[in-house]
Amino acid sequence: MYLLIPAAGSGKRMGADRNKLLLQVHSKSLIAWTLLAAEAASSISWIGIISQPHDWEDFKGIIANLKISKPIEFISGGSTRQESVYNGLQALPANANQVLIHDGARCLATPDLFNACAEAILHCPGLIAAVPVKDTIKVVDASGIIQSTPDREQLWAAQTPQGFDVKLLKQCHAEGVRQGWEVTDDAALFERCGIEVRIVMGEETNLKVTTPQDLAIAEFILSHREQ
Ligand code: CTP
Ligand code: MG
Repeated sequence: MYLLIPAAGSGKRMGADRNKLLLQVHSKSLIAWTLLAAEAASSISWIGIISQPHDWEDFKGIIANLKISKPIEFISGGSTRQESVYNGLQALPANANQVLIHDGARCLATPDLFNACAEAILHCPGLIAAVPVKDTIKVVDASGIIQSTPDREQLWAAQTPQGFDVKLLKQCHAEGVRQGWEVTDDAALFERCGIEVRIVMGEETNLKVTTPQDLAIAEFILSHREQ
């Protein structure tokens, strides 16, 4: 299975002086943890890291220390995640029929989750890892007034990996560019094109490291994993 890792962000909400994926958590960089999970997932055979060229030297240094056995390609990122994934899709080898897309910032996803998604995408056009929402969610207007409370039974929090038929995802991305759609995950493009996207049970610990608090939680989870 081909894996694309969007890693071209700047980590604005982290407030660090560099791409948050270069920050350390439990003695390794975030991108290192993500790559180690991909290396350990038997289903993954090729990895494309979508990133800004100014980070390539740092990423290459990290990879050299990890001794990754799988082929890794570097692909230039865009100015949004959506653009970055678009670039990644163009760089996939011609024989890639399915692809998994996994945010570099979700450095706690387990190899089992990659393998479950890789297996499931052989049987459907699109899927995402997701978990049932625990909070009661409110829809709120611009003046801070609650408009509605959606039924929690129907709410899931989207994660990555997300898996897709490559030909369909390329078509959906092209349609997104034509229509000017701005989305924060690839499943949203499938949905807008009217193509079914299935849920694979994700992992509570598969958080997206976004803020310094998330970094502390990731440190806690990783330190307990090894015991
Ligand atoms: N990403 C990307 N290209 C971009 C922006 C984001 O590949 N132009 C990647 C990030 O590197 C990250 C994933 O998409 O792995 C999810 O994005 P997010 O968590 O928002 O990361 P950042 O954009 O770096 O953070 P922020 O939004 O706080 O700046
Ligand atoms: Mg972002």
